[in-house]
Amino acid sequence: MLQETAKILWNEPVAEAVYRMGLTGGVQYAAADPGQFVTLRLPGESTPLLRRPFSIHRVHTSQGRVKRIEILYKAVGDFTRKLARQKKGDTLDLLGPLGHGYTVSPHIQSAALVAGGIGVAPMVFLAEKLKSAGTLLKDSVACLGGRSAADILCEADFQSMGIETQIATEDGSLGEKGLVTTVLADWLKNNKPDMIYACGPMPMLDAVSSIARQHERPCEVSIETIMACGVGACLGCAIKDTEHGQGYGHVCIDGPVFRADRVLGIRY
Ligand code: FES
Repeated sequence: MLQETAKILWNEPVAEAVYRMGLTGGVQYAAADPGQFVTLRLPGESTPLLRRPFSIHRVHTSQGRVKRIEILYKAVGDFTRKLARQKKGDTLDLLGPLGHGYTVSPHIQSAALVAGGIGVAPMVFLAEKLKSAGTLLKDSVACLGGRSAADILCEADFQSMGIETQIATEDGSLGEKGLVTTVLADWLKNNKPDMIYACGPMPMLDAVSSIARQHERPCEVSIETIMACGVGACLGCAIKDTEHGQGYGHVCIDGPVFRADRVLGIRY
């Protein structure tokens, strides 16, 4: 983890209120795991006082050297709306990589990646890392869900890597009408992935976890919560965690990615 001043290389809209931002990033991102995050602060800004966390969406390397990192974010609050107004060449205070990411291993031969809305942000990086580790993306699936077609992001990125995509929207404007968990459950009738990875709203994570349990598949979820420090100092992100000695873990250092059976089914 390193704090640095990062230059914005691009900050472009990719969908309604959704932006992709490219940033210069240090060598430490060469070893970043998918699911890890960075925190950002606008220089000279006293409000908000807190740094804001963003999943790493991609790490671009060339000959093993980090060229840039990328985040994918939705401009929904004061901070992210200000972020959306930043221009190429502006700088940001960047801290990362932080937290604990998804398990990637040559033993994972096939996988289901399940994303709700902007929860897709770490999944493209995850798919790239799985591919490098030898996971068979042709036997894997990316299940993408949202309220409407505008919430379905990065479909082309998955398809370009050879992963089948399954789409569900609540209003039926794209893919199946309904929830992403339904298309996951359907896919699992004929497939037995070595891992189910999920990122999205808490009810979706609960549902994915319970489907994984029914199908006896291991499952990892990325938990979203309010973070103040992002480095384990403020204790503001505590969650019940059955594997933590004290009974509580911290999303920012023990997560945000946890094995689903460690943290779900227990409210915090
Ligand atoms: Fe401060 Fe996790 S955000 S301890």
